[in-house]
Amino acid sequence: MIVTKPPMGWNSWNMFGANISDALIRQSADALVESGLRDAGYEYIVIDDCWSLRERDAEGRLVPDPEKFPEGMKALSDYVHSKGLKFGMYSCAGTKTCARYPSSFEHEFTDAATFAQWGVDFLKYDYCNKPRIDGDLLYKRMGLALATCGRDILFSACNWGADNSVEWIKSTGAHMWRSTGDIFDSWQSVKDLAVSQIERQPYFSPCCFNDMDMLVVGLRGRGNAGLTGCTDQEYRTHFSYWAILQSPLMIGCDIRQMDAATLETLTNPEIIAINQDPAFRQPYLILNWGRSQLVWAKQLEGGDYALGLFNLDDDSRHMDFYWWDLGLPAAAGYALSIRDLWLHEDIGIFPEGMGLDVPAHGCRMFRARLTRR
Ligand code: GLA
Repeated sequence: MIVTKPPMGWNSWNMFGANISDALIRQSADALVESGLRDAGYEYIVIDDCWSLRERDAEGRLVPDPEKFPEGMKALSDYVHSKGLKFGMYSCAGTKTCARYPSSFEHEFTDAATFAQWGVDFLKYDYCNKPRIDGDLLYKRMGLALATCGRDILFSACNWGADNSVEWIKSTGAHMWRSTGDIFDSWQSVKDLAVSQIERQPYFSPCCFNDMDMLVVGLRGRGNAGLTGCTDQEYRTHFSYWAILQSPLMIGCDIRQMDAATLETLTNPEIIAINQDPAFRQPYLILNWGRSQLVWAKQLEGGDYALGLFNLDDDSRHMDFYWWDLGLPAAAGYALSIRDLWLHEDIGIFPEGMGLDVPAHGCRMFRARLTRR
Protein backbone atom coordinates (compact mmCIF):
# COMPACT_ATOMS: atom_id res chain seq x y z
CA MET A 1 0.00 0.00 0.00
CA ILE A 2 1.32 3.43 -0.92
CA VAL A 3 -0.02 6.42 1.00
CA THR A 4 0.59 9.61 -0.96
CA LYS A 5 -1.08 12.24 1.25
CA PRO A 6 -0.97 12.98 5.00
CA PRO A 7 -4.00 11.08 6.33
CA MET A 8 -6.91 13.14 7.68
CA GLY A 9 -9.54 11.95 10.13
CA TRP A 10 -10.68 11.76 13.73
CA ASN A 11 -9.29 9.77 16.67
CA SER A 12 -11.04 9.01 19.96
CA TRP A 13 -8.11 9.48 22.37
CA ASN A 14 -7.74 13.21 23.00
CA MET A 15 -11.35 13.72 24.02
CA PHE A 16 -12.61 10.36 25.20
CA GLY A 17 -9.66 8.23 26.41
CA ALA A 18 -11.15 4.96 27.71
CA ASN A 19 -14.76 6.24 27.47
CA ILE A 20 -15.44 4.83 24.03
CA SER A 21 -18.39 2.84 22.70
CA ASP A 22 -20.09 1.67 19.56
CA ALA A 23 -22.62 4.51 19.91
CA LEU A 24 -19.87 7.14 20.22
CA ILE A 25 -18.05 5.89 17.14
CA ARG A 26 -21.26 5.75 15.07
CA GLN A 27 -22.28 9.23 16.21
CA SER A 28 -18.81 10.55 15.41
CA ALA A 29 -18.98 9.01 11.93
CA ASP A 30 -22.39 10.67 11.44
CA ALA A 31 -20.99 13.99 12.68
CA LEU A 32 -17.98 13.82 10.38
CA VAL A 33 -20.36 13.59 7.44
CA GLU A 34 -23.06 16.02 8.61
CA SER A 35 -20.65 18.77 9.69
CA GLY A 36 -18.95 18.83 6.28
CA LEU A 37 -15.66 17.52 7.69
CA ARG A 38 -15.75 14.48 5.40
CA ASP A 39 -16.18 16.72 2.37
CA ALA A 40 -13.28 18.86 3.62
CA GLY A 41 -11.06 15.75 3.40
CA TYR A 42 -11.29 13.98 6.78
CA GLU A 43 -11.87 10.29 6.08
CA TYR A 44 -10.58 8.06 8.91
CA ILE A 45 -12.52 7.30 12.09
CA VAL A 46 -9.97 5.78 14.48
CA ILE A 47 -10.66 3.99 17.79
CA ASP A 48 -7.64 4.41 20.06
CA ASP A 49 -6.65 2.40 23.16
CA CYS A 50 -9.05 0.66 25.62
CA TRP A 51 -11.40 -1.05 23.15
CA SER A 52 -10.70 -4.72 24.02
CA LEU A 53 -11.24 -7.13 26.86
CA ARG A 54 -8.29 -7.62 29.20
CA GLU A 55 -7.72 -11.18 27.90
CA ARG A 56 -7.47 -12.76 24.46
CA ASP A 57 -9.87 -15.57 23.51
CA ALA A 58 -8.97 -19.30 23.50
CA GLU A 59 -7.56 -18.97 19.95
CA GLY A 60 -5.34 -16.09 21.02
CA ARG A 61 -7.40 -13.39 19.30
CA LEU A 62 -8.19 -9.93 20.58
CA VAL A 63 -11.79 -9.53 21.75
CA PRO A 64 -13.72 -6.25 21.63
CA ASP A 65 -15.19 -5.38 25.04
CA PRO A 66 -18.85 -6.48 24.64
CA GLU A 67 -20.07 -3.75 26.98
CA LYS A 68 -18.48 -1.02 24.89
CA PHE A 69 -18.87 -2.68 21.49
CA PRO A 70 -21.84 -5.09 21.75
CA GLU A 71 -22.16 -5.48 17.97
CA GLY A 72 -18.47 -6.33 17.49
CA MET A 73 -16.01 -4.57 15.22
CA LYS A 74 -17.12 -5.88 11.84
CA ALA A 75 -20.62 -4.39 12.22
CA LEU A 76 -19.09 -1.09 13.35
CA SER A 77 -16.62 -0.97 10.49
CA ASP A 78 -19.48 -1.75 8.05
CA TYR A 79 -21.34 1.23 9.46
CA VAL A 80 -18.31 3.53 9.13
CA HIS A 81 -17.77 2.33 5.56
CA SER A 82 -21.46 2.91 4.73
CA LYS A 83 -20.81 6.60 5.46
CA GLY A 84 -18.06 6.75 2.86
CA LEU A 85 -15.40 6.74 5.60
CA LYS A 86 -12.50 4.49 6.57
CA PHE A 87 -12.15 2.60 9.83
CA GLY A 88 -9.08 2.70 12.09
CA MET A 89 -8.05 0.80 15.20
CA TYR A 90 -5.20 0.72 17.70
CA SER A 91 -2.70 -1.77 19.05
CA CYS A 92 0.81 -1.69 20.43
CA ALA A 93 4.22 -3.24 19.79
CA GLY A 94 4.74 -4.12 23.46
CA THR A 95 3.43 -6.76 25.82
CA LYS A 96 0.53 -4.47 26.88
CA THR A 97 -0.88 -1.30 25.36
CA CYS A 98 -0.18 2.01 27.08
CA ALA A 99 -3.41 1.60 29.07
CA ARG A 100 -2.38 -2.02 29.82
CA TYR A 101 -4.76 -3.86 27.50
CA PRO A 102 -3.57 -6.90 25.47
CA SER A 103 -1.04 -5.86 22.87
CA SER A 104 0.34 -7.35 19.67
CA PHE A 105 3.84 -8.49 20.66
CA GLU A 106 4.20 -12.13 19.51
CA HIS A 107 0.65 -11.93 18.08
CA GLU A 108 1.42 -9.68 15.12
CA PHE A 109 0.25 -11.98 12.34
CA THR A 110 -2.90 -13.13 14.20
CA ASP A 111 -3.84 -9.55 14.98
CA ALA A 112 -3.22 -8.30 11.44
CA ALA A 113 -5.48 -11.10 10.16
CA THR A 114 -8.15 -10.19 12.73
CA PHE A 115 -8.00 -6.51 11.76
CA ALA A 116 -8.29 -7.47 8.09
CA GLN A 117 -11.38 -9.61 8.86
CA TRP A 118 -12.97 -6.71 10.69
CA GLY A 119 -12.47 -4.40 7.70
CA VAL A 120 -9.86 -2.20 9.38
CA ASP A 121 -8.19 0.37 7.07
CA PHE A 122 -5.75 2.03 9.49
CA LEU A 123 -3.73 0.73 12.45
CA LYS A 124 -2.16 3.03 15.01
CA TYR A 125 0.68 1.07 16.60
CA ASP A 126 2.02 2.27 19.95
CA TYR A 127 5.27 1.57 21.82
CA CYS A 128 4.50 1.04 25.53
CA ASN A 129 5.67 -1.95 27.58
CA LYS A 130 8.29 -2.80 25.04
CA PRO A 131 10.14 -6.11 25.39
CA ARG A 132 13.96 -6.11 25.20
CA ILE A 133 14.03 -6.29 21.44
CA ASP A 134 15.14 -3.51 19.13
CA GLY A 135 12.23 -1.24 18.28
CA ASP A 136 12.80 -1.48 14.55
CA LEU A 137 12.24 -5.25 14.68
CA LEU A 138 8.93 -4.78 16.49
CA TYR A 139 7.66 -2.38 13.84
CA LYS A 140 9.08 -4.50 11.00
CA ARG A 141 7.10 -7.52 12.27
CA MET A 142 3.82 -5.65 12.20
CA GLY A 143 4.75 -3.94 8.94
CA LEU A 144 5.18 -7.35 7.34
CA ALA A 145 2.04 -8.78 8.96
CA LEU A 146 -0.03 -5.88 7.61
CA ALA A 147 1.54 -5.99 4.16
CA THR A 148 0.63 -9.68 3.84
CA CYS A 149 -2.80 -9.72 5.58
CA GLY A 150 -4.74 -9.41 2.33
CA ARG A 151 -6.17 -5.95 3.02
CA ASP A 152 -4.79 -2.45 2.56
CA ILE A 153 -4.18 -1.21 6.10
CA LEU A 154 -2.40 2.08 6.66
CA PHE A 155 0.36 1.57 9.24
CA SER A 156 0.54 4.49 11.69
CA ALA A 157 3.63 3.99 13.87
CA CYS A 158 3.49 5.73 17.25
CA ASN A 159 6.83 5.42 19.02
CA TRP A 160 7.12 9.18 19.72
CA GLY A 161 10.50 9.41 17.96
CA ALA A 162 12.05 7.27 20.76
CA ASP A 163 15.11 5.04 20.32
CA ASN A 164 16.33 7.11 17.40
CA SER A 165 13.46 5.95 15.23
CA VAL A 166 14.19 8.76 12.75
CA GLU A 167 16.92 6.45 11.47
CA TRP A 168 14.85 3.29 11.04
CA ILE A 169 11.14 4.00 11.00
CA LYS A 170 10.92 4.27 7.21
CA SER A 171 12.39 0.78 6.86
CA THR A 172 9.47 -0.78 8.76
CA GLY A 173 6.58 -0.21 6.36
CA ALA A 174 5.11 2.67 8.41
CA HIS A 175 3.12 5.20 6.37
CA MET A 176 3.30 7.82 9.11
CA TRP A 177 5.34 8.00 12.28
CA ARG A 178 4.84 9.93 15.48
CA SER A 179 7.71 12.38 15.59
CA THR A 180 6.58 13.89 18.91
CA GLY A 181 5.52 12.93 22.42
CA ASP A 182 1.85 13.20 23.39
CA ILE A 183 0.00 16.45 22.84
CA PHE A 184 -2.14 18.14 25.49
CA ASP A 185 -4.63 20.93 25.15
CA SER A 186 -2.51 23.90 26.21
CA TRP A 187 -0.50 26.52 24.36
CA GLN A 188 2.70 25.30 26.03
CA SER A 189 2.21 21.78 24.71
CA VAL A 190 1.44 22.98 21.17
CA LYS A 191 4.49 25.27 21.24
CA ASP A 192 6.84 22.58 22.59
CA LEU A 193 5.78 20.10 19.89
CA ALA A 194 6.04 22.76 17.18
CA VAL A 195 9.60 23.73 18.15
CA SER A 196 10.64 20.08 18.54
CA GLN A 197 10.03 19.55 14.83
CA ILE A 198 12.61 22.04 13.54
CA GLU A 199 15.34 19.40 13.36
CA ARG A 200 12.98 16.63 12.23
CA GLN A 201 12.05 18.00 8.82
CA PRO A 202 14.88 16.22 6.98
CA TYR A 203 13.36 12.92 8.12
CA PHE A 204 10.04 13.65 6.47
CA SER A 205 9.21 11.75 3.33
CA PRO A 206 6.09 11.50 1.22
CA CYS A 207 4.71 7.98 1.84
CA CYS A 208 5.92 8.12 5.47
CA PHE A 209 4.71 11.39 6.97
CA ASN A 210 6.00 12.96 10.18
CA ASP A 211 3.04 12.79 12.57
CA MET A 212 2.99 15.62 15.11
CA ASP A 213 0.12 13.93 17.04
CA MET A 214 -3.60 14.46 16.93
CA LEU A 215 -5.06 17.96 16.92
CA VAL A 216 -6.38 19.58 20.08
CA VAL A 217 -8.35 22.19 18.11
CA GLY A 218 -11.77 22.57 19.75
CA LEU A 219 -11.05 20.61 22.94
CA ARG A 220 -11.26 23.85 24.95
CA GLY A 221 -9.74 22.26 28.01
CA ARG A 222 -12.12 19.30 28.07
CA GLY A 223 -11.54 15.59 27.76
CA ASN A 224 -8.68 13.18 28.17
CA ALA A 225 -5.94 15.47 26.79
CA GLY A 226 -7.64 18.62 28.09
CA LEU A 227 -5.53 21.01 30.15
CA THR A 228 -5.95 24.77 30.14
CA GLY A 229 -7.38 24.86 26.61
CA CYS A 230 -6.27 27.33 23.93
CA THR A 231 -7.73 30.48 22.41
CA ASP A 232 -9.16 30.40 18.88
CA GLN A 233 -6.03 32.17 17.65
CA GLU A 234 -3.81 29.54 19.29
CA TYR A 235 -5.87 26.74 17.75
CA ARG A 236 -5.42 28.38 14.33
CA THR A 237 -1.68 28.66 14.88
CA HIS A 238 -1.58 24.98 15.87
CA PHE A 239 -3.64 23.90 12.85
CA SER A 240 -1.59 26.04 10.44
CA TYR A 241 1.72 24.75 11.78
CA TRP A 242 0.65 21.09 11.53
CA ALA A 243 -0.65 21.83 8.01
CA ILE A 244 2.48 23.42 6.59
CA LEU A 245 4.70 20.74 8.14
CA GLN A 246 2.56 18.13 6.39
CA SER A 247 1.54 16.32 9.53
CA PRO A 248 -1.47 14.02 9.30
CA LEU A 249 -4.52 16.01 10.45
CA MET A 250 -6.37 13.84 12.97
CA ILE A 251 -9.07 15.74 14.85
CA GLY A 252 -9.27 15.03 18.58
CA CYS A 253 -12.28 17.02 19.83
CA ASP A 254 -15.92 15.94 20.20
CA ILE A 255 -17.09 16.53 16.64
CA ARG A 256 -20.71 15.90 17.66
CA GLN A 257 -20.76 19.29 19.34
CA MET A 258 -18.27 21.64 17.72
CA ASP A 259 -18.64 25.40 17.93
CA ALA A 260 -18.53 27.51 14.77
CA ALA A 261 -14.94 28.72 15.27
CA THR A 262 -13.66 25.14 15.62
CA LEU A 263 -15.42 24.03 12.46
CA GLU A 264 -14.18 27.06 10.55
CA THR A 265 -10.59 26.37 11.59
CA LEU A 266 -10.72 22.65 10.79
CA THR A 267 -12.33 23.10 7.38
CA ASN A 268 -10.32 26.03 5.95
CA PRO A 269 -9.88 24.70 2.40
CA GLU A 270 -6.88 26.89 1.60
CA ILE A 271 -4.93 25.66 4.64
CA ILE A 272 -5.90 22.04 3.97
CA ALA A 273 -4.69 22.46 0.37
CA ILE A 274 -1.24 23.41 1.70
CA ASN A 275 -1.19 20.26 3.85
CA GLN A 276 -2.32 18.03 1.00
CA ASP A 277 -0.30 19.70 -1.78
CA PRO A 278 0.76 16.85 -4.07
CA ALA A 279 4.40 17.89 -4.43
CA PHE A 280 5.14 17.20 -0.73
CA ARG A 281 8.37 19.20 -0.73
CA GLN A 282 10.21 19.44 2.55
CA PRO A 283 9.38 22.70 4.40
CA TYR A 284 12.33 24.96 5.32
CA LEU A 285 12.85 27.92 7.60
CA ILE A 286 13.53 31.31 6.06
CA LEU A 287 13.42 33.04 9.46
CA ASN A 288 14.29 31.52 12.82
CA TRP A 289 14.59 34.08 15.56
CA GLY A 290 15.29 32.35 18.87
CA ARG A 291 13.26 29.27 17.89
CA SER A 292 10.11 31.25 18.56
CA GLN A 293 9.66 33.60 15.59
CA LEU A 294 9.58 31.26 12.65
CA VAL A 295 8.77 31.60 8.98
CA TRP A 296 8.34 28.25 7.28
CA ALA A 297 8.34 28.07 3.48
CA LYS A 298 7.37 25.20 1.24
CA GLN A 299 7.41 25.01 -2.53
CA LEU A 300 4.06 23.84 -3.87
CA GLU A 301 3.15 21.93 -6.99
CA GLY A 302 3.23 24.36 -9.93
CA GLY A 303 5.77 26.73 -8.35
CA ASP A 304 3.74 28.64 -5.74
CA TYR A 305 5.12 28.90 -2.22
CA ALA A 306 3.33 28.32 1.05
CA LEU A 307 4.57 30.71 3.72
CA GLY A 308 3.71 30.27 7.40
CA LEU A 309 4.64 33.02 9.86
CA PHE A 310 4.53 31.85 13.46
CA ASN A 311 5.04 34.01 16.52
CA LEU A 312 5.35 31.55 19.39
CA ASP A 313 6.36 34.36 21.79
CA ASP A 314 4.15 35.85 24.49
CA ASP A 315 4.31 39.37 22.95
CA SER A 316 3.47 40.73 19.53
CA ARG A 317 6.52 40.69 17.21
CA HIS A 318 7.52 42.41 14.01
CA MET A 319 8.83 39.84 11.54
CA ASP A 320 10.92 40.79 8.48
CA PHE A 321 11.88 38.25 5.85
CA TYR A 322 13.15 38.28 2.29
CA TRP A 323 12.59 36.31 -0.90
CA TRP A 324 16.36 35.90 -1.14
CA ASP A 325 16.03 33.30 1.63
CA LEU A 326 13.46 31.38 -0.39
CA GLY A 327 16.06 30.96 -3.11
CA LEU A 328 14.65 33.82 -5.19
CA PRO A 329 17.22 36.58 -5.86
CA ALA A 330 16.02 40.11 -6.66
CA ALA A 331 18.05 39.96 -9.88
CA ALA A 332 15.69 37.27 -11.19
CA GLY A 333 13.16 40.03 -11.86
CA TYR A 334 10.22 38.59 -9.96
CA ALA A 335 8.03 39.80 -7.14
CA LEU A 336 5.60 37.66 -5.14
CA SER A 337 1.87 38.12 -5.24
CA ILE A 338 0.52 37.19 -1.81
CA ARG A 339 -2.79 35.64 -0.79
CA ASP A 340 -3.78 35.48 2.89
CA LEU A 341 -5.22 32.03 3.59
CA TRP A 342 -7.11 32.98 6.74
CA LEU A 343 -8.52 36.25 5.37
CA HIS A 344 -9.15 34.55 1.98
CA GLU A 345 -7.86 37.72 0.29
CA ASP A 346 -5.10 38.75 -2.09
CA ILE A 347 -3.17 41.33 -0.11
CA GLY A 348 -0.72 42.67 -2.71
CA ILE A 349 2.52 42.28 -4.62
CA PHE A 350 5.75 42.37 -2.63
CA PRO A 351 9.02 42.92 -4.55
CA GLU A 352 11.71 41.71 -2.15
CA GLY A 353 10.17 40.52 1.09
CA MET A 354 7.69 41.40 3.81
CA GLY A 355 7.65 43.00 7.25
CA LEU A 356 4.62 42.25 9.40
CA ASP A 357 3.42 42.43 12.98
CA VAL A 358 2.26 39.05 14.21
CA PRO A 359 0.35 38.91 17.51
CA ALA A 360 1.48 36.77 20.46
CA HIS A 361 0.87 33.05 19.75
CA GLY A 362 -0.43 34.10 16.32
CA CYS A 363 0.26 33.16 12.74
CA ARG A 364 -0.25 34.32 9.17
CA MET A 365 -0.55 31.83 6.35
CA PHE A 366 0.11 32.88 2.76
CA ARG A 367 0.22 31.42 -0.71
CA ALA A 368 2.76 33.30 -2.84
CA ARG A 369 2.95 33.31 -6.62
CA LEU A 370 5.80 34.49 -8.84
CA THR A 371 4.92 37.56 -10.86
CA ARG A 372 7.11 39.66 -13.21
CA ARG A 373 8.26 42.98 -11.76
C1 GLA B 1 0.23 6.72 23.96
C2 GLA B 1 0.03 7.41 22.61
C3 GLA B 1 -1.26 8.20 22.64
C4 GLA B 1 -2.44 7.29 22.96
C5 GLA B 1 -2.19 6.55 24.26
C6 GLA B 1 -3.20 5.46 24.51
O1 GLA B 1 0.45 7.64 24.98
O2 GLA B 1 1.13 8.24 22.31
O3 GLA B 1 -1.46 8.87 21.40
O4 GLA B 1 -2.60 6.37 21.90
O5 GLA B 1 -0.91 5.93 24.29
O6 GLA B 1 -2.99 4.77 25.71
